[in-house]
Amino acid sequence: MKKIVVLTGAGVSAESGIRTFRDSDGMWEEYSIEEVATYDAWLKNPALVLDFYNKRRQQLAKVKPNAAHLALKQLEEKYDVTIITQNVDDLHERAGSSKILHLHGELTKVRSTVDQNLIYDIGYKDVGLGDTCESGHQLRPHIVWFGEAVPMIEHAAEIVAEADVFMVVGTSLLVYPAAGLIYYAPPASAKYLIDPAGMHVSRVANLEVIRKKAGEGVPELVDMLMNN
Ligand code: APR
Repeated sequence: MKKIVVLTGAGVSAESGIRTFRDSDGMWEEYSIEEVATYDAWLKNPALVLDFYNKRRQQLAKVKPNAAHLALKQLEEKYDVTIITQNVDDLHERAGSSKILHLHGELTKVRSTVDQNLIYDIGYKDVGLGDTCESGHQLRPHIVWFGEAVPMIEHAAEIVAEADVFMVVGTSLLVYPAAGLIYYAPPASAKYLIDPAGMHVSRVANLEVIRKKAGEGVPELVDMLMNN
């Protein structure tokens, strides 16, 4: 079975109603990264950080996968598909995709502030100060904040290096190390970038840029790959 690897970013969930980060109405227009998405922010004002992620979780409970998430699931009928997502939402899971790697963590999980192996599924529930792990330590969002290591990045690079087809969907490719994954795709692999901004990526062979929204561009590309 041919291997398709898909790197997704906030744009794949935009049509589900989740705001991206860096578009004109993006999340980082309303919030400052330094106040809610760094380890220093957590030390300075954990209540504010918890509240930010509680709001994200509450919103996630209300939205649904869109045509792009569903089309990526359909690809599994013919291909070995791995999704590497920068998103912390669970819309790929809810669309039914089987192999999903969350580079930047997951909203529906929290973990101990002391033992990073104590990870808990909390679904869409709020977390507050005083909510603790089984050894009595405060719980924090299971999110990779700016300045923190991205534990899955090496594994992700190994997966990309095996791709026959590599797709990039809805990401500004501004945040590293995730943005560098495209350079691990074999030169001979077919590469597609679907994003209405249609950014230019240099030094990548066999790359087709499709300037469309995910909800349109992904199902079209999936149709083409299914009939290949
Ligand atoms: N379909 C596809 N792409 C879209 C759509 C859409 N409907 N709407 C917007 N986009 C594109 C934008 O053109 C932009 O290129 O989605 C991209 C969103 O970029 P960012 O907001 O920067 O999101 P992302 O690249 O996922 O951010 C990376 O930064 O803030 C951190 O940890 C956070 O994982 C996130 C990382």
